[in-house]
Amino acid sequence: MKAVVFHGVGHIVVDEVDDPTLEAPTDAIIKIVTSSICGTDLHMLRGTMTGMRYGTILGHEAVGIVEKVGQSVTSVKPGDRVVVCSTIACGECVYCEAKEYSSCDRSNPNGPQAGTAFFGGPEATGAFNGLQAERARIPFADSVLVKLKKSVSDADALLCSDIFPTGYMGVEMADVKEGDYVAIFGCGPVGQMAIAVAKYLGAKEVFAIDVLPDRLKVAKQQGAIPINFEKVDPVEQLRKLTNGYGPDAVIDAVGIDAQRPHKGPATSIVGVVESVLEKTAGAPLAVLTGNHWQKGDGPEQVLQWCVEAVRKSGVISIIGVYPETEDNFPIGKVMSKALTVRAANCSHRKYIPKCLKMMEDTPFRPSTILTVFEGLENAVDCYKHFDKREPGWLKVELIPEAE
Ligand SMILES: NC(=O)c1ccc[n+]([C@@H]2O[C@H](COP(=O)([O-])OP(=O)(O)OC[C@H]3O[C@@H](n4cnc5c(N)ncnc54)[C@H](O)[C@@H]3O)[C@@H](O)[C@H]2O)c1
Ligand SMILES: [Zn+2]
Ligand SMILES: [Zn+2]
Repeated sequence: MKAVVFHGVGHIVVDEVDDPTLEAPTDAIIKIVTSSICGTDLHMLRGTMTGMRYGTILGHEAVGIVEKVGQSVTSVKPGDRVVVCSTIACGECVYCEAKEYSSCDRSNPNGPQAGTAFFGGPEATGAFNGLQAERARIPFADSVLVKLKKSVSDADALLCSDIFPTGYMGVEMADVKEGDYVAIFGCGPVGQMAIAVAKYLGAKEVFAIDVLPDRLKVAKQQGAIPINFEKVDPVEQLRKLTNGYGPDAVIDAVGIDAQRPHKGPATSIVGVVESVLEKTAGAPLAVLTGNHWQKGDGPEQVLQWCVEAVRKSGVISIIGVYPETEDNFPIGKVMSKALTVRAANCSHRKYIPKCLKMMEDTPFRPSTILTVFEGLENAVDCYKHFDKREPGWLKVELIPEAE
């Protein structure tokens, strides 16, 4: 079958690989109807999430049709249309019982103390083959696959695989209540989902911070107030717009590949120097890859802005991904401002039903952020455009059987 295969940092290939087979009685095999590229895949390509195994199939977002199930699978059967939870959880351990699926004790082959297991990720996440392929093996199928009603389109379901539930979780972790001011850093696909959910859960005003005009425009169309961090200082602007207090909650939907401002009032001398150092460190890769797969030049920029911008006693919710090696966080300011900080990989199985309910209750359709539809064979080019965050490349759908 065809699949997007990781060969090294900055190097992926659409390759012919063996079809997956059932390996455990709890497995299922699905035929992928549609899949997509996520900002998390970019961290792996840029080398900011390290430890990818050569030959791992990428991708953790998909809708599929069940083809085969292992003996002990009971909740799905061949022919069922399903959305795949990006994170792999057993459904039965103490964490799964508590709906803390991303902390599952049994699904990561590296043991209970290892972090979240997910499709198409590094060794530390289990090195499971991913979903940018024609078929996939789904471990713990009873817990990882969610059967879909006919009324939910493939495109809407695809976004329920990862980014819509992640945005939902980000807003819940931010404790957003009726009448709150909420700031969301990052207007990529995940940030856009968080904007929609924050409005749905009662935020009075949502501020959306990014530097890319096309993404800020989509945020504005969703009813958020756009803030371009190269035009204004986002921390000052957020205070100005919240009567001097700062937002009640801030959400980091950017993660480790954050950019610093390169112009405007938020630029600082220290920032410029650190940016040059980050870029110099990445220079050899840049020469080899024609400037693709560049790490962000301000890995802690968004964390710092979150801590500075949020009001005293406010909440910071981190859904942008940071590798386990990241240990630079302004804890002193967190203490003096009496902040609550939460960070997690998404427990998709918990949030997918909430997303489906939001679609039932409102006209919101997550698929409106899909802007590019391509065949799986064109994946490498799509990755390059998405990596560069080119205008119009907000979210890419990869379809195995596209004409
Ligand atoms: N926690 C989870 O389970 C989970 C699930 C899915 C994705 N993620 C993570 O969410 C993050 C966003 O994913 P995405 O698909 O939207 O990625 P993306 O790369 O498309 O979007 C990131 C956005 O952040 C903007 N940005 C960069 N620096 C910024 C800054 N300093 N301030 C404000 N905005 C800035 C970029 O311009 C871009 O629009 C990634 O880190 C991804 O790994 C986490
Ligand atoms: Zn994702
Ligand atoms: Zn479990």
